[in-house]
Amino acid sequence: MASSLKINGERLQRQIDELAGISAAPPPVVTRVLFSEADLRARSLVKKWCREAGLSLREDAVGNIFARWTGTDSALAPVATGSHIDAIPNAGRYDGVVGVLGAIEAIQAMQSAGVKPRRGIELIIFTAEEPTRFGIGCLGSRLLAGALALEKATALRDPDGKSLEELRGAAGFGEKDLHSVRLASKTYSAFVELHIEQGALLERDNIPIGVVERIAAPSTLRVRLTGVGGHAGAMLMPERHDALLAGAESALAVEHAVLTSGSPDTVGTTGVFRIEPGAVNSVPCRAWLEIDLRDTQVATRDAALKRIEAAMAEICAKRGVAYEFERLNVDAPAICDANLVQTVASVCGELRLPVKKMISRAYHDSLFMAQICPTTMIFIPCRGGVSHRPDEYSSPEQIENGTRVLALTLERLAGIG
Ligand code: GLV
Ligand code: MN
Ligand code: MN
Repeated sequence: MASSLKINGERLQRQIDELAGISAAPPPVVTRVLFSEADLRARSLVKKWCREAGLSLREDAVGNIFARWTGTDSALAPVATGSHIDAIPNAGRYDGVVGVLGAIEAIQAMQSAGVKPRRGIELIIFTAEEPTRFGIGCLGSRLLAGALALEKATALRDPDGKSLEELRGAAGFGEKDLHSVRLASKTYSAFVELHIEQGALLERDNIPIGVVERIAAPSTLRVRLTGVGGHAGAMLMPERHDALLAGAESALAVEHAVLTSGSPDTVGTTGVFRIEPGAVNSVPCRAWLEIDLRDTQVATRDAALKRIEAAMAEICAKRGVAYEFERLNVDAPAICDANLVQTVASVCGELRLPVKKMISRAYHDSLFMAQICPTTMIFIPCRGGVSHRPDEYSSPEQIENGTRVLALTLERLAGIG
């Protein structure tokens, strides 16, 4: 049975390349921020491919797309798979996309082999896995899982002050209320996401497939600093309350807290640092920072978070700069389902593909799907472990391997007949 599933690697690669051409920045950069023109165009193209594969489509109030291949037994909960097609600024073409286009290809491989799944197989293309627009990652899957309070979701604002309500309305998803997004329990029997590793372990060990047992715990802190602006020539140094300098010291405090957390798995990044007014001859009066802090262990992550906030309060007091902290998300890690991990591992055995059990240090929509159904992920290597960069790369063969493992796993989980 395993050998009868034929992946059309050429078609898959063509689609990956075509999708990469839809970007707000010229190639090789891929930038597709939530509800931007590029995001909306990419959604239409992927929906077209889903229709061509005979899948029936539905979209929810936050723009999550569901593409279903109906099973023979409609009384059974479907198996779900999927990932995202939004991309951070200056990204590459594989993050998220491999899990979406690979799933369409996996379904087509089963169709061509004459498979009739008992359970339906549903591809989910999640809205805004990337946090670029609202500072919070996995927006669509958080809402599906009921892991984001609706008051918090409706209060979300992008850097231009636009609300999620406004933007989803403009993108054509405004008809239904956000509370309709949440999925009933037992909607899916399982969720399996195919993704590039975004680390270098598979490549280092020359192993084609990873299966994920745990996903690290992410958190995001947004910091607004308000100092006093003024003329860069006229304002003498003792009078200054420079928001940029308070922000710069804060970023160093993040690094220090992470390096001294006691856990080698704590990582912290000040990935956003904007200042106003942004003129060379003006003292910065405002700074806006977004800090990403993660760990495999919640205790060391939370302790580092507290130390960062305390250090920032001290820095701001010393510099006479006002501050506001907002914890945008402080998430628990996910534990993947042991049976699903075993299913993926045995599928790899059948396909004679060596497999490695792994932790995902990046987050994924699987972090939230794991809250509502048994979940795991299939990883494929990516060159040098590089991701979130235009030179992100997985070879056609690596992608084909992952897609074959996904196809056979979905077939096993859906059952036949
Ligand atoms: C996902 O894109 C992450 O930042 O881990
Ligand atoms: Mn990403
Ligand atoms: Mn991703």
